[in-house]
Amino acid sequence: MTKPSSLADTLSDVPPADRPAHIAIIMDGNGRWAQARGLPRIEGHRRGVESVRVVSETCTELGIEAVTLYCLSSENWKRPQAELDFLMQLLEQYLVEERKTILDQGLKLQVIGRRDRLPPGVIAEMEKTLELSKDNSGTKLVLAIDYGGRDEITRAVRLISQDLADGKISQSQITEELVSSRLYTAGLPEIDLMIRTGGDLRVSNFLLWQLSYAELWVTEKCWPDFSRDEFLKAIREFANRQRRFGGLNVNE
Ligand code: IPE
Ligand code: IPE
Ligand code: MG
Repeated sequence: MTKPSSLADTLSDVPPADRPAHIAIIMDGNGRWAQARGLPRIEGHRRGVESVRVVSETCTELGIEAVTLYCLSSENWKRPQAELDFLMQLLEQYLVEERKTILDQGLKLQVIGRRDRLPPGVIAEMEKTLELSKDNSGTKLVLAIDYGGRDEITRAVRLISQDLADGKISQSQITEELVSSRLYTAGLPEIDLMIRTGGDLRVSNFLLWQLSYAELWVTEKCWPDFSRDEFLKAIREFANRQRRFGGLNVNE
């Protein structure tokens, strides 16, 4: 069996212009992956970290501008405290252990979501990597932590109404661009491709505004089984999609 000499070769049929600029991923199915193997749910979360590594490495190699990973939703706080404690511990560990790799790969870390409910240890490690990677020009690695699309839009409405009350803006200045600029994702490219693992056909409060014209790609594979091949398959299928943005095909 001949192995491709590099990852770039593997996608040589997909010109860079046809690749997604911004990929969002709902990393779902960790618990089911573990339970199917008779393991505790947390084992699935632990194994999921390896898939995060694979994805960030692949994005770097392909020159993807940004990748946003759904790590914790604003609704996930409903879970048992022991699972939440483990997730927080894992997050902190990831931020410490992956710091060198993130910096070596030239990734720029960004974090979206609420900060006020996260443990101080997580915040401290996050801030360290955010600061150290802030001038990097590689793939933007965006972690959505305690993130909810509705929460984000509500926050934007609050910010905009404050500016209105302060006389900084007038009603006619409230445009789609202004709303976008008040979201956590301000400055990031539009999402081209949204991947969900674990097979469920829903968005679970992820990037509600930003997904408006994203291409959706769902795999039955659970997150710990999400491989580089699977990721490349999604990108290749994306490149073959007809996007119309409400208009007609160019040649119609
Ligand atoms: C996704 O996996 C990770 C988080 C939501 C933190 P799940 O924990 O939701 O796994 P399933 O969907 O129950 O299998
Ligand atoms: C979405 O998965 C959130 C993350 C992957 C972080 P969930 O497991 O929370 O989604 P639902 O509850 O099945 O919709
Ligand atoms: Mg789930």
